[in-house]
Amino acid sequence: MKPKLLITRAIPDEAKKLLTPHFEIDQYDKHTAIPRPLLLKKIKDKDGLLCILTEKVNQELLDAAPKLKAVATYSVGFDHVDVKACSARGVAVVNTPGVLTETTADFTWALLMAAARRVVEGDKFMRAGKYEAWDPMMILGVDVFGKTLGVVGFGRIGQAVARRAAGFGMRVLYYDTQRLFPEVEKQFGASFRDFNDLLRESDFVSLHTVLDSTTHHLIDDRAFGFMKRSAILINAARGPIVDEKALVKALKSGRIRGAGLDVYEFEPKMVPGLSKLPNLVLAPHLASASLETRTKMGTMAAQGLVDALVHKKKPQHPVNPEVCDKIGVAA
Ligand code: GLV
Repeated sequence: MKPKLLITRAIPDEAKKLLTPHFEIDQYDKHTAIPRPLLLKKIKDKDGLLCILTEKVNQELLDAAPKLKAVATYSVGFDHVDVKACSARGVAVVNTPGVLTETTADFTWALLMAAARRVVEGDKFMRAGKYEAWDPMMILGVDVFGKTLGVVGFGRIGQAVARRAAGFGMRVLYYDTQRLFPEVEKQFGASFRDFNDLLRESDFVSLHTVLDSTTHHLIDDRAFGFMKRSAILINAARGPIVDEKALVKALKSGRIRGAGLDVYEFEPKMVPGLSKLPNLVLAPHLASASLETRTKMGTMAAQGLVDALVHKKKPQHPVNPEVCDKIGVAA
């Protein structure tokens, strides 16, 4: 008998093709989030779950899924998964690291450039038929080249963002809980700063940390107080890293110049007032959304489930090695 798998969203054909021969598949084949009660009902008899970052894999879900043995999340981030609870239940968790690094870094730069050079305002202006004559004072942005980029969270994605800054002749500062070896810093042309100094010195502050209890509201009123009035904040990591109410205040009052957001504190919702601000570029969590990368993420997540549940071997990208490492090892 084939193991039973729940897929919570429409996914690329290539990923589905990897799964079809091995699983009895139950798919919520839509482009919207599966209603929670339906998810809890469908998961009852499933061995595996391929989910998206909008589904909370928590104790409630685990309690509704007595047969569940493996979860693959179609994302690198897994803050929506209670990994501890999964491990306690012996449920393997896999994610999709690495394949979206460069795509996410590209998009971070798209937001940064759009916010600095007011690309979206220019587009709206043209579409509204407002362009009558070239004007030396029209829609003035700020330069990117030669400025200081502050990268908060210097993991894979933060580093890929920093590498791109070399092309713009920028000075790169980074903050992370751990400082890199000097030779690695040199390779990226990046200098370590403590968090407050990075905020004080940067023209662009780009967030690339994971979301956990230590990074929740890392950017709050106090942090905005340290930033330059001319600074632009970019968040393509996780929404709750920024106190969105404080951001609205900072943008409205001119405490900072602008922002580019791909993620939201209460995603998919925005706090009141945010969407009304002109000095802000908004995207609906698109950072990894290239055809190539979303296909790679899908096949990676699918392969993790095939390995764990069909080949009974350790998957390549374990989130909880304490469970994944034991797959296929005789007790
Ligand atoms: C997207 O946000 C991801 O974590 O892959």
